Amino acid sequence: MTQSEEMSQLKQEALVDINEAQDEKALQDVKVKYLGKKGSVSGLMKHMKELSNEEKPAYGQKVNELRETIKSEIASRQEVLANEQLEAQLREEKIDVTLPSREISLGAKHPLTRTIEEIEDLFLGLGYEIVEGFEVEHDHYNFEALNLPKSHPARDMQDSFYITDEILMRTHTSPVQARTLEKRNGQGPVKIICPGKVYRRDSDDATHSHQFTQIEGLVVAENIRMSDLKGTLELLAKELFGADREIRLRPSYFPFTEPSVEVDVSCFKCKGEGCNVCKHTGWIEVLGSGMVHPNVLEMAGFDSEKYTGFAFGLGPDRIAMLKYGIEDIRHFYTNDMRFLEQFKSVEDRGEAEC
Ligand code: PHE
Repeated sequence: MTQSEEMSQLKQEALVDINEAQDEKALQDVKVKYLGKKGSVSGLMKHMKELSNEEKPAYGQKVNELRETIKSEIASRQEVLANEQLEAQLREEKIDVTLPSREISLGAKHPLTRTIEEIEDLFLGLGYEIVEGFEVEHDHYNFEALNLPKSHPARDMQDSFYITDEILMRTHTSPVQARTLEKRNGQGPVKIICPGKVYRRDSDDATHSHQFTQIEGLVVAENIRMSDLKGTLELLAKELFGADREIRLRPSYFPFTEPSVEVDVSCFKCKGEGCNVCKHTGWIEVLGSGMVHPNVLEMAGFDSEKYTGFAFGLGPDRIAMLKYGIEDIRHFYTNDMRFLEQFKSVEDRGEAEC
């Protein structure tokens, strides 16, 4: 084989090797194989000694040309490989921005919150203020200022969680009555509702919970009469259970109201005929209320000759159970998503889709 045949064969082999190199590493090996110190192109120089002085420069130049050709072929192959790699990477990391996004699941308002807000809306519309009190309360406001001195037997009506001898978890929202009256320095009118959590020592079951909610209502002004109480509660019953509801007042006893009444609403399910909801009586008991006891007014600094008032306390838990047909009060407090999701209103669902 002549030297030029050897050279062109080497060139052919090199071009094949370069094109077959599939990655940077393989290409680097090809580079070493042909262009390295001990590589094939350098090997061609060994023929120098066989050549005459005249032939040497031309041969040397050809070897150099071959080195340059191989170098530039490697460089362009390198570029091709780099591009391929970039494309592969882009393909792999491609993000389809047109894919629908993962659905964000919006919560629904808790049925108790719903019920409380519905009642708040009604009373705000009637000019009442919303006032909140403390869940950890003094014995004084929870009992004494409500005409329940320490030895009063009616304290047994509400089993309490005491923290110290004088401090307890409030057993009802009525202490907010006493606190608000005290703050007003004997000046009416007072028109408030107070929603909040209350606590009683009770064994939890389907209808009892040691923690539940109440909404207190209090109106104190001049010339407030029992008919005002009745009218207000009638409006509330119609708002909650339907326009054709009626209410019935039954005598009852609370130390902080005199007279005291228990309020029943005509059954919204059977319209008074008698069914399982109203235990076949046609009436459902919904709240306790009465005319504010003069002692409560006097203790808070109000002149009971000038001012009269009414108060009521209702339980959103019971109302929500009746309205939504919930059979177990514990559902409100165990936060099972399957329960809560049923209370998504049409508007909530609409919002979730946007
Ligand atoms: N605080 C009473 C209860 O929890 C309810 C009530 C409030 C009764 C206001 C009369 C007036 O049982």
